[in-house]
Amino acid sequence: MLLLVMGLPGVGKSTLARAIHRAVQSVRLESDRVRKWMAGVSPTTPLPLSYYTPDFSARVFRWIEHQTERLLQEEHVVLVDATLTKRIYRRPFVEIARKAGVPLLGLYCEAPDDVVRARLARRRGDPSDADMEVYVRMKATAEFPPEDLPYLHLRGTDPVAHLLERVLEEVGQRLMNTGKTLTIRARNLMLPL
Ligand SMILES: Nc1ncnc2c1ncn2[C@@H]1O[C@H](COP(=O)(O)OP(=O)(O)O)[C@@H](O)[C@H]1O
Ligand SMILES: [Mg+2]
Repeated sequence: MLLLVMGLPGVGKSTLARAIHRAVQSVRLESDRVRKWMAGVSPTTPLPLSYYTPDFSARVFRWIEHQTERLLQEEHVVLVDATLTKRIYRRPFVEIARKAGVPLLGLYCEAPDDVVRARLARRRGDPSDADMEVYVRMKATAEFPPEDLPYLHLRGTDPVAHLLERVLEEVGQRLMNTGKTLTIRARNLMLPL
């Protein structure tokens, strides 16, 4: 199964992705972390804009796509955590899931601008370098909601435990059709975040 946790910076993607990862045996591919690793810096070292060019981003995503393909072949549940603001960025994942014959589910997270502003202003020690300026710029051209794939629309201000319940419910439904099962590790062990 392929899960794409997507949305603008600060909406709560990585928080949700970590919660899913704690609950379900899966491999989490976080684009911000991959970018830092490819640049040869620690996950929380800020990078200059030269690492946010279309060229460098394409390298980051080629790597994530390649790993996704490989991991799905090995029957892992893959959790991609990336903004994926446009169809053109999402399309490779749609194709990969189709070719692998696994269910694909987008988890589209959204939060009000003022909530995001407050969150980004106080965020520390995160692999993301995005600030409010980046958020505003990305929002202006984002192709959301992601109507090009099956997705859940999630409010990034809801308690993470509620979001997780919704996700696990939907994932369970989709896997039922494939005859596969999923081991839920920590459904009742949710911490606040
Ligand atoms: N559901 C939530 N409820 C309350 N705070 C949240 C929630 N999701 C995320 N946050 C907070 O918002 C900030 C940004 O979340 P994060 O998961 O890093 O967003 P993203 O990965 O989309 O950039 C974090 O500091 C996190 O603690
Ligand atoms: Mg993140």
